[in-house]
Amino acid sequence: MSNYPTLKEAYNQAGQGQVFRFFDRLNEVSRKRLLEQASEVNLKELERLLQELVLNETKSESRPQSLQPAPFIAAPQHEGDSQAWAQAERLGAEALRDGRVAAFTVAGGQGTRLGFDGPKGTYPITPVKSKTLFQVFAEKILAASRRYETSIPWFIMTSEANHEQTIHFFLENEFFELGEMNCHFFKQGRMPAVDLNGKILLEAPDSIALSPDGHGGSLRALVRSGSLERMKEMGIDIISYFQVDNPLLRPIDPAFIGFHIEHGSQLSSKMVGKAFPQEKVGVFCLRDGNLEIIEYSDLPEKLLLETEPSTESLRYQAGSIAIHLLSRDFVLQVGGDDARFSLPFHRADKKVESLNSEGRPVMPDSPNGIKFEMFVFDALQFANNPIVVETLREEEFSPVKNAAGVDSAQSCRQDQLRQWTRWLKTAGVNISTDETGLPEFAFEISPLFADSEKTFLEKWSLLEVKPNIREGMYLE
Ligand code: UD1
Repeated sequence: MSNYPTLKEAYNQAGQGQVFRFFDRLNEVSRKRLLEQASEVNLKELERLLQELVLNETKSESRPQSLQPAPFIAAPQHEGDSQAWAQAERLGAEALRDGRVAAFTVAGGQGTRLGFDGPKGTYPITPVKSKTLFQVFAEKILAASRRYETSIPWFIMTSEANHEQTIHFFLENEFFELGEMNCHFFKQGRMPAVDLNGKILLEAPDSIALSPDGHGGSLRALVRSGSLERMKEMGIDIISYFQVDNPLLRPIDPAFIGFHIEHGSQLSSKMVGKAFPQEKVGVFCLRDGNLEIIEYSDLPEKLLLETEPSTESLRYQAGSIAIHLLSRDFVLQVGGDDARFSLPFHRADKKVESLNSEGRPVMPDSPNGIKFEMFVFDALQFANNPIVVETLREEEFSPVKNAAGVDSAQSCRQDQLRQWTRWLKTAGVNISTDETGLPEFAFEISPLFADSEKTFLEKWSLLEVKPNIREGMYLE
């Protein structure tokens, strides 16, 4: 409690004295809670954000004329150079055998759109076994660890809201055979929400309205939690970053890793061709020659719809699937305290349940507050030799974002089935499907049997007795 006078003074000085408006009425426990939260807020940083994004908001200048589509390394299936891919795969496999790679999942988001109460990674997603998102990633990481005869550590960023539940879930599931010592959890940072005049909002008399600082906060959190230092001790210099919402992805991809190494890239990204112009994915662009991702909501409609005159395909077609490789030294640079390399914050106007000046709860029906978030892809502006590598949508992208329709659990389960059916058909198995490649019944192939078409064909050819593919079949 001894820091109360200093904190109160600092908050008064910053024009945020309202945070302690109810302090005198609070009991000891509540006072302690509020003081802890108040010390978590970096008032200097907040003041800078308020100046930039709230009080003197200047619309960011849009300069579409300086934009161009970004180049990328094409997939072998799309006329990419197969030899270059084979060479990259060898290089990546070597780095994996040398224990240079860690998997990293950002799982701090709140999954509000999905309407699921609990850490999103605990959402059941496979069609027969109802494995959770976390289990699917764990098995893919385990499969890669076995293949490269190493233990690939897995770092998972949680948030204040889901940290305990996430750890509990892993304990309950005995860390999915990965070993407790290979699973590392840390929390991301939080930012206070402010009202439209820049005043910090309270969600309760003893509690500031704090929310996660965006997936861009993962870079800071890797540094602040000591995870980056731990990686250094383990000899890891490549971090394989992915979101918690896409079970089709390959958490560990040797060819992608190989290209990252070969190009001396500090931040590499995967792309797929956009499915349709308004698809809600960021788009890789060159702005004045520099690679960046422009969020779907920020790309002017004219550019969203623009097509190449010769082919009629979308001009801005390179969709980000939020899979990246980051060099450890680069994370130290952008996640550290050097202001020259700090990620910008983005302003999001939201409905924030909070207290009014009399201490009564307000349930707003229109945005009454502003939240601040960082995006990991904004680090591209600081990266040396960033590259973009193409992957196939049907093999690697089917996120679970919505309760129904596009990018839902249902569409994702169907995409898993289509993937396994394609693998089986390539192996010569006859399965009847509809015109979208969806089979008539559900079955499941474990990542521990195969985690790509290539490994599937190898494993399948070795099976002396081929299983009958039928409803409910599970291949492990
Ligand atoms: C995101 C990307 C978009 C990309 C698409 C691919 C942004 C702004 N957009 O969209 O460019 O094409 O995915 O699917 O990111 N997370 C945290 N902490 C946070 C916020 C988010 O860990 O504070 C994690 C979530 O758990 C999730 C991921 O970040 O794993 C994505 O967050 P979400 O807000 O769902 O991004 P999208 O808008 O779907």
